Amino acid sequence: MNFKRHTVTAALPYANGPVHIGHLAGCYLPADIYVRYLRSKGEDVKFICGSDEHGVPITIKAKKEGVTPQQVVDKYNKIMGDSFKEFGISFDIYSRTSSKVHHETASTFFKTLYDKGVFNEEITEQYFDEKANQFLADRYIIGTCPKCGNDNAYGDQCEKCGTSLSPTELINPRSTLSGEKPVLKKTKNWFLPLDKMQPQIEAYIDSHKEWKSNVYGQCKSWLNSGLQPRAMTRDLDWGVKVPIPDAEGKVLYVWFDAPIGYISATKELTPDWEKYWKDKETKLVHFIGKDNIVFHCIIFPAMLMAEGSYIVPENVPANEFLNLEGDKISTSRNWAVWLHEYLLEFKDKQDVLRYTLCANAPETKDNDFTWKDFQAKNNNELVAILGNFVNRTLVLTHKYYEGKVPDASEYTKTDLLLLDEISKFPAKIAASIEQYRFREALGELMNLARAGNKYLADNEPWNLIKSDAKRVQTIMNISLQISSNLAVLMEPFLPFTSKKLSLMLNLNEGLKWKDATRTNLLLPGHQINTASLLFEKVEDETIVAQVQKLEDSKKQNELEKSTAIEPAKGETSFDDFSKMDIRVGTILEAERVPKTDKLLKLLIDTGIDQRTVVSGIAGSYKPEDIIGQQVSILVNLAPRKIKGIESQGMILMAENNKGELSFVAPTKPDMNNGGAIK
Ligand code: 2FM
Ligand code: ZN
Repeated sequence: MNFKRHTVTAALPYANGPVHIGHLAGCYLPADIYVRYLRSKGEDVKFICGSDEHGVPITIKAKKEGVTPQQVVDKYNKIMGDSFKEFGISFDIYSRTSSKVHHETASTFFKTLYDKGVFNEEITEQYFDEKANQFLADRYIIGTCPKCGNDNAYGDQCEKCGTSLSPTELINPRSTLSGEKPVLKKTKNWFLPLDKMQPQIEAYIDSHKEWKSNVYGQCKSWLNSGLQPRAMTRDLDWGVKVPIPDAEGKVLYVWFDAPIGYISATKELTPDWEKYWKDKETKLVHFIGKDNIVFHCIIFPAMLMAEGSYIVPENVPANEFLNLEGDKISTSRNWAVWLHEYLLEFKDKQDVLRYTLCANAPETKDNDFTWKDFQAKNNNELVAILGNFVNRTLVLTHKYYEGKVPDASEYTKTDLLLLDEISKFPAKIAASIEQYRFREALGELMNLARAGNKYLADNEPWNLIKSDAKRVQTIMNISLQISSNLAVLMEPFLPFTSKKLSLMLNLNEGLKWKDATRTNLLLPGHQINTASLLFEKVEDETIVAQVQKLEDSKKQNELEKSTAIEPAKGETSFDDFSKMDIRVGTILEAERVPKTDKLLKLLIDTGIDQRTVVSGIAGSYKPEDIIGQQVSILVNLAPRKIKGIESQGMILMAENNKGELSFVAPTKPDMNNGGAIK
C-alpha cells in the first residue's frame, strides 16, 4: 500500500541521564537516517520524540541525588535535547511527557477507555514497604531471578537474562527503599484485558510477517505464552494522575502514558496532528531498542485499538543492543561513550561517529563498539575512500580548470557502464533503507565512492593530462558528477559532511533523492568552491587515550563498588551495645610495624592504663603526626596477636569511599582520658 504521509517516532528516552552511543545506535540514528531519506524523497513526514519524564527510573535518580523528580527531568530534558541536536538528529519536535498537553492527552485517552468500559477494575495484592509506607513499583523491588539466579533482578525484568518478570515471581524479594522484605497489601487498579484482546492482536501481528525477525519472533513468543491483563495504573505519586473518582494516590502506568507522548508531541507540533495519527493513509513507524518491543508491538497497539480512532504501527524496526569494548554499556558503571564528552574530544566529527555506529549497527544481533574499529572506519573508509576520492576530484578540478566543471566530450564504453551503474545507486540505497537495513544502505553509499575512486585510479588523469587533455575533461566531469551524487545520497547518513561537500561543489540547495539518479547535476562551466578535506586521520594516541579513559573509569568504579555504602547491619540490643567499653584515650607513641604497609604500633593512655594497640592506619597517618592525638578506644576487646605483637584494644576509625581513614575523636579539648564514649 502506498502511504500519503509518515509519522516516525523514536523511543522517548527516560530523562535520567545523558545520551550515550548505545542510545544513538539503538534507535535515534536509524530513525534519523530513515526520516532524512523520506524528506529527500519529498515525502510528508513528521519525526517525533521527547523525553519520558515519568516512571520509576526518574524517581530513583531523584532520591539518589536528593532532589525532586521535576529537577531531574528539567536537567536531563535539556542535556539530551542538546546532544540530539548536536548530532544532527533532526526531530521535528523534541517534547516531554511532563508537559501540560501530554497530561491532558494521556488523561483523555485513559478516560475514553474507562468510559468505554475497556478496563477491568481489580483489587490485587501488591508489594508494600511498611517501613517506607508505600506501595513498591516494580523497579523498587529486587530479588533473585527465578530463571537465571541473578540476585539483583528487578520486579519487572532481569537485566542479566532479559526475562520479563512480575514482582511476585522474584525469590527473596526486598525493597530497594529500605532493604526490608515487602509485604503483600490489597489495592485497586485498572487493567487492560490483553487476554481478551489476544485474537485481535494476534491477527495484527500475523499481518506483519515482514517485520524484522527479532521483532516478529519476540511478539510471537509473547502471544504463544498467552497475553495477561496488565495494570495501567500504579500506586505512585509521580506521573499523570488517574482521571477518575476513587483513584487518589494513583498515576497512569508509565508505559501507558509514554507512548501517548508521541501523540501529544505531534499535537504540540501541528494543529494538523490528527492527520498523522488517525488517517489510514499515514504510515506509523516506531524506532526503538529491543527492550521496548512488547510495549510498542503489543500493548500500545492494543491501547490504540481499544480507543478506536487511531491507526496502529505499520512497522517497529527495533535494534538489538550495542556493547562497548566487549562489555555491556552501563550508565551506573560509567561504561559508556557519552555524546557530550565525545563532542569535546572530537570537535566537528559527529559524522565519524554516525558513520561508525551505522556501519556497525546492532541490526540483527548485539554488536560491539571499539575505539580501534572507530579509528579503522575513519582512516580506512572515510579518509581513504570517500574523502580521498572527493579530495582528488576537487583538487584536480581546481588545478586543471580553475574550479570550473569541464565538459564531457566522448564517453568510452567503460564510462557509459559506470554512468549507468551510478544512476542505479539511489534505488539500491533506497531499497535497503526502506527495509530498515541501514548498514547495507551505507555500504552501498560507500560502494559509490569506491567506484569513483577506482575510476580515478584506473584512468589516472594526472598522467593523461599532458598527452590527452580532452579525455581528462571527461574523466573529471564524471568524477564531479559522482561527487555531487554522493553529496545528495550521503545526506541521511552524514548530514554535516553532505553540507560541507555541497558547499564545496556549490550545489543548488534543495536537491532531492531522485536528482542523484542524474549524471549531469553539474553543468559544464559551473564554478566550484575551495576544497578542504572532508575527514582527517585519527591518530593512535587519540585512540589510546580513549581506551585509557574507559579503563580509568572501570578502575574508579571498582574502587567505588568496593567502598559502597553497605546496607545497615541487623538489629542489635541496647544491652549488647552497652557491653562495649569505649573510652577516650591519647596516643603516646607510634611506630610502623616492620614489613607491613598498613600497620602502626601505638602506645595509648586509656586513663585506666597504658597499653599497646596495633592499628591498620598507616595508609592514612604518619607515626610522627599523631603523637598526642585523642582517640576513641574499645578497651574490653579480647587481646589478639597481630604480627607477633599483642594488641590490647581497638581504635575507632571512620572510613570514606576512597578508603581513607580518620580518627573518631572528641571535638572538645577538655575530654579527659578514660572518659566513657556512649
Ligand atoms: O526504555 C525507555 O527508555 C523508555 N523511556 C522508552 C519509552 S518509548 C515510548 F513509549 F515513549
Ligand atoms: Zn535472570
